[in-house]
Formats: sequence, C-alpha cells, structure tokens
Amino acid sequence: MAVFRPDVDNPPKFILAPTGGETMKIRNTIIGAITAAVAAFSLPAVAQQPIVIKFSHVVANDTPKGHAAEFFKKKAEELTGGRVKVEVYANSTLYKDKEEMEALQLGAVQMLAPSLAKFGPLGVKEFEVFDLPYIFDNYDQLHKVTLGPVGRQLLDKLEAKGIRGLAYWDNGFKSFSANKPLHTPEDYKGLKMRIQSSKVLESQMRALGCLPQVMAFSEVYQALQTGVVDGTENPISNLYTQKMHEVQKHLSLTEHGYLGYAVITNKKFWDGLPADIRTKLEDAMGQATRYANQIAKIENDKSLEAVKASGKTQVYTPTAQERMAIKKALVKTHVDMESRIGKDLIKSIYKETGFDPNKLQ
Ligand code: LMR
Repeated sequence: MAVFRPDVDNPPKFILAPTGGETMKIRNTIIGAITAAVAAFSLPAVAQQPIVIKFSHVVANDTPKGHAAEFFKKKAEELTGGRVKVEVYANSTLYKDKEEMEALQLGAVQMLAPSLAKFGPLGVKEFEVFDLPYIFDNYDQLHKVTLGPVGRQLLDKLEAKGIRGLAYWDNGFKSFSANKPLHTPEDYKGLKMRIQSSKVLESQMRALGCLPQVMAFSEVYQALQTGVVDGTENPISNLYTQKMHEVQKHLSLTEHGYLGYAVITNKKFWDGLPADIRTKLEDAMGQATRYANQIAKIENDKSLEAVKASGKTQVYTPTAQERMAIKKALVKTHVDMESRIGKDLIKSIYKETGFDPNKLQ
C-alpha cells in the first residue's frame, strides 16, 4: 500500500480564474476558499488513517514464523501508537508461495517472510546457499552468517527486485519423511519427494536418487495423502502443524539442511514511510527477530515431542554411520551447485562456519 501524503497526493484544488468578468472571479475565489477550508479540515482525518501492513505467510500460526509475525504485529502497533496496523494472513490464506512474491512486488501486500529456498525464481539464486546440505551444524554457525556481513550482502541483492530485506528469522533443521523407513542412502532411491523451488534442493534429492517435485507448501499435505509424492523434508514444526505426520509413516531425524526465512518488504512502500514510523518499525522488527530466533528451537522440539506422542509416525534417529553415509552422498551438491550460487559465496560461508567438505565428521 502506498503511503498517503496529504500534501503531495491530495493538494487542495483551486479553480483557476477565467479571463474577464468580476462575478466569475468572485465566485471562483469563494469556491477556492471553500475547497481550501474543506481540505484543511479533512487533513487531520486523513492523517489519522493507520498505515496498513499486510503480512502474508504460508505456515500455521503455531510455528516459529507464525508466532514471530504476531509478535511483530503487536510490537509495531504498540511502538507506533496505532499509526500502523499490521494484518497477518497465515497458512496461505491470502497467497501461496509463488503468488505472494508477485503480490509483494506489485504492492498488494507489504510484508512476507518466505523461506530462503524460495528466492531462486525471483532471480536471486544466491539465497540457495542456505539450502546446501550440512553447511550449518547448528544455529550458532548459522547466526554467524545471518547476523553478519554475508547475510546483509545477500539481503541487499533484493533491492534490484524492488524488495527490501529486513531480517532473517529462524525455523530449524529439516528431516526427511516418507512411508518407508529411511536409514541408508539406498532407502531413498526412486522416492518422489516434494521440494521447495530451489535448484540446490533439486540437486540434493537427485544425489539420493529421488525424484524431486516442486510444490507449493499449501499443497503438500494432500499430495502426501494421495500419493502424488512419497515423502518430503521439513523442520518438525512445519511437519507437525500441517499434520503431515498423519500421512507419513516414517520420519528420520537427519537434520541435513536448514530452513529459515528472510523477512522482506516492498522497497517503495518502505522508503515512502514517514521516517519516524520507519524507525519504530525497525525497532519492532529487531525485537521480533530476537524473539523468533529464541523460540525456533523450542518450537521444533515441542513439535517433535508431539509427533512422537501422536503415535502416527515412527521417529528414527540415524546411527553415526548412517548419518555419515547420507552426508557423503549429499555433500556433492556443494560442488555441483558452485556455478549457480558462486564459489566465493560458498567459501565465505565455509569460512564463517568452519565447514570443510574434505573433512566430514
Ligand atoms: C516449505 O515450503 O516447506 C516451507 O518453506 C514453508 C515455510 O514457510 O516454512
């Protein structure tokens, strides 16, 4: 939504005096005065209209992203004293994955937090570096990137697409699920696996001999239920809140890759905000980011317990040997994707995290 600037967007409309005729001149002067008065009186009313931020996302409310979006809403409205109203649309109720990106660029929504795996189709392929299997062992390593200069440089790449990157929000580490036990790399061969729209994820699935299928998040449950795909990968918070565990008999805690978000806004909208409002929203976003990153692991752990308690899915922890076999199979993706993502970017992340593809552990 464009910011309404009463002085620029709705200047008082004075009627030009016609040539000749005193009566006409007087009449126009009166009309002009009335118009100006009406405009002046209506200005405070216009200025009081809150600035609306539509924040669309695709996951359930009861997830790390869902909670963080609600937290941001509360803080943003509080800090701006109600001058900003944030409307959160969860669970793809407004837009699905692909549509929400387009809607943001068109200005139909003002804020999104897509997974980092969904920026390729927008033309910013570098974000797919976050999808490289095993590139992060834990949240601490990840935060060296997302809270450091490499993360900022990546967000800045969005500017050329009319998008401002505001923050990174964590979700967690993905595990594979299917209707058969997944212990060794051989178990994955031939499975149709749903993926997000990332070429790195496509390469990852092919490295295991799977048939990757890109699909919107909102369609995954049904695709699993009807057998359109055999399995998927997700952090447990997503698996559980979409009830995927009800249609997946086996979950293997591979934690082979990271899934998190970039919170983004329409650049024109953001730049057009009054400076004091923007500062307050940045403050709200900073607080929401700290909150998101604090709750992500807790939420995922809670979901894992809930999946176990449901008794619908068998949860398996791979042995050290099995984990190493999967790691070895997947790490080739790093080399295969160098030309797409950029060797230097991959190296700069290795530098931050200490990952060494030649010394797997
Ligand atoms: C997915 O599509 O699996 C995830 O990106 C959904 C999300 O936003 O966490």
